[in-house]
Amino acid sequence: GIPKFVKIVEVGPRDGLQNEKNIVPTAVKIELIHRLASSGLSVIEATSFVSPKWVPQLADAKEVMQEVHRLRGVRFPVLTPNLKGFEAAIAAGAKEVAVFASASESFSKSNINCSVEESLARYRTVTRAAKELSVPVRGYISCVVGCPVDGPTPPSKVAYVAKELYDMGCFEISLGDTTGVGTPGTVVPMLAAVIAVVPIDKLAVHFHDTYGQSLSNILVSLQMGISVVDSSVAGLGGCPYAKGATGNVATEDVVYMLNGIGVKTNIDLEKLMLAGDFINNHLQRPSGSKTSVALNRS
Ligand code: HMG
Ligand code: MG
Repeated sequence: GIPKFVKIVEVGPRDGLQNEKNIVPTAVKIELIHRLASSGLSVIEATSFVSPKWVPQLADAKEVMQEVHRLRGVRFPVLTPNLKGFEAAIAAGAKEVAVFASASESFSKSNINCSVEESLARYRTVTRAAKELSVPVRGYISCVVGCPVDGPTPPSKVAYVAKELYDMGCFEISLGDTTGVGTPGTVVPMLAAVIAVVPIDKLAVHFHDTYGQSLSNILVSLQMGISVVDSSVAGLGGCPYAKGATGNVATEDVVYMLNGIGVKTNIDLEKLMLAGDFINNHLQRPSGSKTSVALNRS
């Protein structure tokens, strides 16, 4: 059955902002994170310690992390693609990190410039270093349903990468439909393959709303027993230069649905929408959350 409580992992400040072309001032990022924290979110992915040449928007990772890591009651995982990123993250105060692999070879190459196997070897060095410091590591898998270059992703490949990440010590594996192509028709067999090799309470789902399928995909995931959902305030994460590309599923829409089906999240939807208004005002853009648009309409 559907879990009684769902943990939402807010990825807006990281996944949401990483593709924004105009640099968002550090102070705005920090204010956004504070507002998100005040809505009751317990996990907010704050930034990435990646190469600033690859992701210029997050070049201020150190400054952001130094400001927010002291906030109580909230975890602020950050993305770390290698040992260099891990060490920088820890130095800036990070107490939790995430590594990010792919189920597609082409995406791995274009995102982190190495093969899937090479990335797993790299992540073993990160998880080993993290273990010594008792730092929890989350593992991401991108392109779990399909890849724009390689086409449909075999569920067995997702299961393989998930098991590798689990075996190296990741406490949670987030399954990302990076391009939003999945429907319940493809998500269910993918999840079934992963659940066969990794305990279900170690899994999270990460959907993008590109084809308008994310809430349906979340609902079937909950029905299969998943209880951790990644989402992004205001649906941040669309690439403004790719026609039709939309962002992560909006946190407001997920909370609205979960409220409707009686699943607890401990998140205050009003405060969450205010955090969304704040960043939308800064970006001069209407909200990517339908719930937020509808509730602000009166
Ligand atoms: P590379 O060019 O192959 O690496 O990049 P390199 O080791 O040859 O290093 C190149 C330069 O980067 C060097 O500097 C390094 O020092 C520097 P230079 O000597 O040229 O001045 N460098 C770093 N600088 C800061 N922090 C670091 C770091 N590492 C190396 N950690 C690398 C390889 C992995 C570093 C690069 O490809 C990279 O940073 N990629 C990150 C891309 C990224 O962040 N993508 C978005 C996140 S994944 C995602 O969005 C999907 C997800 O959300 C799931 C979903 O949505 O479905 C997770
Ligand atoms: Mg994403």
